[in-house]
Amino acid sequence: MLTKTKIYLSSPHMGGTEQKFVADAFSTNWIAPLGPHVDGFENDLKKYLGDNKYVAALSSGTASIHLALQLLNVSKGDEVLCQSFTFSASANPIIYQGATPVFIDSESDTWNMSPELLEIAIKDRIEKYKKPKAIIAVHLYGMPYKAKEINIIAKKYEIPVIEDSAEALGSTYFGQPCATLSDIGILSFNGNKIITTSGGGALITSTQNLKEKAVFLSTQARDNAPHYEHSSIGFNYRMSNVLAGIGRGQMEVIDDRVKARRQNFDFYKKNLSQFNTIEFLQEPQGFFSNRWITCIKTDSFETREQIRLKLLKDDIESRPLWKPMHMQAIFKDCLHFTNGTSEDLFDKGLCLPSGSNLSQEDLDRVLNNILKTPSL
Ligand SMILES: Cc1ncc(COP(=O)(O)O)c(C=O)c1O
Repeated sequence: MLTKTKIYLSSPHMGGTEQKFVADAFSTNWIAPLGPHVDGFENDLKKYLGDNKYVAALSSGTASIHLALQLLNVSKGDEVLCQSFTFSASANPIIYQGATPVFIDSESDTWNMSPELLEIAIKDRIEKYKKPKAIIAVHLYGMPYKAKEINIIAKKYEIPVIEDSAEALGSTYFGQPCATLSDIGILSFNGNKIITTSGGGALITSTQNLKEKAVFLSTQARDNAPHYEHSSIGFNYRMSNVLAGIGRGQMEVIDDRVKARRQNFDFYKKNLSQFNTIEFLQEPQGFFSNRWITCIKTDSFETREQIRLKLLKDDIESRPLWKPMHMQAIFKDCLHFTNGTSEDLFDKGLCLPSGSNLSQEDLDRVLNNILKTPSL
């Protein structure tokens, strides 16, 4: 009997040359959090993102956000403005630093940080406490946030922006790559991302000096001495040379991966947009999304659940959109500036299978299940 295989939301997709790089790491004995593949992967990313950028390959996207906060001297007593509609890893490092997150809701054009609410929050915090130390804005699901508007506000109040581009490698904003639109960008290469090193991340800066500081902190902050001398607290956050080898192989196929994810989006949109119970997020003019995950917004929680459960029954993974941070128990005491957008998206939204390795047969199977949902 032919058994159907599980369809995942977003699974790793190797390009074919990764093992060659990994084998090279073994044969040269560079089995360490440094080596030629770490340098090579950083160079590949630099080439992709722009020669005026500097890249530090790290152990995860979360570690990258944590180091970004360190580089901006965020500490106890500081507030950091963070997009509420995101994964908890965008906000957790604020807590690692002993600082306090203040959550900002999204706007409906991009589902990302509302520039309007951002400015309201900044004014409020300056009036009632002190100027926030940093802003963390997120290109969620690969859709760029309104960088121009956010940067204008950030500049006006002189607050640095950390650009959480964990989900947006391959996306561009008026031709400029996501992760390079602000003071410090971060990337993730977790297993579910558009390219993966199994686990990994990167910090993108505009100066060599800042990159060197990030590398210094990520390798236990060893001062220049023959023995182990430390004048600052360090971290063990550097990327392994073995995993960087996987990243080098993956960078060879990044363009194909973006193309395939965008094709998934086009397929779902073409076949589902005739239903007025389903909405897709459009790209505003000048915005280019890698369509890391294809998301739909339905007309109600009930429709969303019907679709999700229908898919689950056929062993197809789908997932409600991110539960906003201001609704999470871990952040229940945090201030938030909201307008209902992210709560509505959480209530009615669903992530559909979006891997670049889905076959046409897989996509048809997902679609046929959705089409059988009674409320469509
Ligand atoms: C928006 C966002 N920020 C941060 C992260 C953290 O990245 P990592 O899993 O590499 O730590 C992720 C993904 O996992 C993410 O989706």
